[in-house]
Amino acid sequence: MTDTIEHIEQEFQTRLTTVSGEEDLRKLKADFIGKKGHVSLMMKNLKSLSPEEKKQAGQALNTLKNRIESVLQEKLGRLEQQAAEARASRVDVTLPGRKPPEGHLHPITQVMEEISGIFTRMGFAVEEGPEIESDFYNFEALNIPQDHPARDMQDTFYIGGKVLRTHTSPVQIHVMERQQPPLRIIAPGKVYRCDSDVSHTPMFHQIEGLMVDRGVRFSDLKGVIERFLKEVFGENVAVRFRPSFFPFTSPSAEVDIQCVMCTGSGCRTCSQTGWLEILGCGMVDPAVFGFVNYDPEEWTGFAFGLGIERIAMLKYGINDIRLYFENDLRFLKQF
Ligand code: PHE
Repeated sequence: MTDTIEHIEQEFQTRLTTVSGEEDLRKLKADFIGKKGHVSLMMKNLKSLSPEEKKQAGQALNTLKNRIESVLQEKLGRLEQQAAEARASRVDVTLPGRKPPEGHLHPITQVMEEISGIFTRMGFAVEEGPEIESDFYNFEALNIPQDHPARDMQDTFYIGGKVLRTHTSPVQIHVMERQQPPLRIIAPGKVYRCDSDVSHTPMFHQIEGLMVDRGVRFSDLKGVIERFLKEVFGENVAVRFRPSFFPFTSPSAEVDIQCVMCTGSGCRTCSQTGWLEILGCGMVDPAVFGFVNYDPEEWTGFAFGLGIERIAMLKYGINDIRLYFENDLRFLKQF
């Protein structure tokens, strides 16, 4: 009897080494400790033994059964773990790929590029100038006299003997110094004024425009500006030119568009006027030509300057200019 039990155990161990999956394992379990398995059959055979032998063999068989059970259980655990690991490392090439987070241009850059595109399609070249300027380029050559309020400490950031440019108009001077007319340029870039509230930030962006040629007239300025505003705000936008003053243009005008929020009926954005001021412009003052040695008898020109943030605010219905520069992704992601 003891020999047979030992034999069964040996056979079990041999079979165990051939098990390669859960299916084999189930079969092995049935063959040894299942209802009709070797151990169970042996149990049935105990009847024919003497009480003393019966007790001994019964105990031995029980121990064997328990041992087989725990070995099988352990083997099952290992097989399950192997299966889980195989599943995890399997690559499903049919799954859609995981996209890395993708950035985009800042809304101000987007609007700046859109506006630059409109003017380049009209034949304007893009120029740049320094953000740190001398008094000459930011004021003097633009016919801004020594006592002009624009030089007030309130508006201008002074650094050393220089200034942070308060507008893009100094680029007009740089371009005219190095180029002879005819010319048609725009100059997008950062400008700085010591000012901060819902509609002002100490740094903002402008686009300057300048066209100089023989026979350039105010009607050319009107045509270019109207075309531009229709491209940005739609063909039906109403535009008006209001007489104004800038030291570097004469005559000068400020241009308004019909309020995009209330379409002219009056609201908070347009302070109930129905109109929104959008840019400054005018015919280049002969005094400015004097600073760059252009003959004002031969050449005439127009210039304009517009604020990007303001146009972007109107285009997208943004009511606080500071949102552009807080770098809150919840805001920036919308563009
Ligand atoms: N430089 C002016 C400003 O910043 C705008 C302007 C530019 C006006 C060119 C006339 C001509 O307000």
